Amino acid sequence: MNVLICKTAEEATEQAYDIFKRRFGNGLKTLGLATGSTPLKLYEKIRTSGWDVSHVTTVNLDEYIGLSPDSPQSYNYYMQEELFKYMNFKNTYLPNGMAEDPQEECERYEQILKENPVDLQILGIGPNGHIGFNEPGTSFHSLTHVAELTPSTREANKRFFEKDEEVPTKAITMGISSIMAAKEIIMLAFGEGKADAVRKMVEGPVSVDCPASVLQKHEHAWVILDEGAAEKLK
Ligand code: F6R
Repeated sequence: MNVLICKTAEEATEQAYDIFKRRFGNGLKTLGLATGSTPLKLYEKIRTSGWDVSHVTTVNLDEYIGLSPDSPQSYNYYMQEELFKYMNFKNTYLPNGMAEDPQEECERYEQILKENPVDLQILGIGPNGHIGFNEPGTSFHSLTHVAELTPSTREANKRFFEKDEEVPTKAITMGISSIMAAKEIIMLAFGEGKADAVRKMVEGPVSVDCPASVLQKHEHAWVILDEGAAEKLK
């Protein structure tokens, strides 16, 4: 794990974009994507790059169960709005949150990941240390699965919904093992609200209590932070 501390989120995004540009120039085929507020500026840079990405496939980490792709809170909708509609990706995969049989959907998605091994995965971290929707306690051996969202994650995500009860309780997420299979990972974290989780991820024991701590075991993981997110590091 390599840790890079930048002054601002803008500078951190610039660093991430630099790595992305180099990999893109080096034949990147499959890009793993996250949603949330953290990668928004990175996606803005990518979508205004004017690149031909017709040879690049994207796979997203997760999707809420029960939200259709045209629901503005779905991750599918977010990706369309922030990136996909501006670019000519070969394929763009997200789990189908409306699948009749979510278990079968997890198996289908895992097959997609096998056929499209991720070259570079973008990640954010939850205040409780989650990656994707792998909440504390999730096995490091997990593959794509149905996850029950913790109260803290539902709390963090309720800003996007009108009513608290509209926040989904379940999601389909790539597992920790599926995420760790990426050849390279860029984890971005911004702001003091992430500082505790970042400390556990970087300095804590590798433990399911902080799912992101597993990144300590990845040989090509970049943790790129702004000063706020890094403020509790020794
Ligand atoms: C999003 C995802 C989540 C977020 C994390 C941070 O697809 O899987 O793990 O990366 O919750 O979210 P933000 O960036 O909104 O703070």
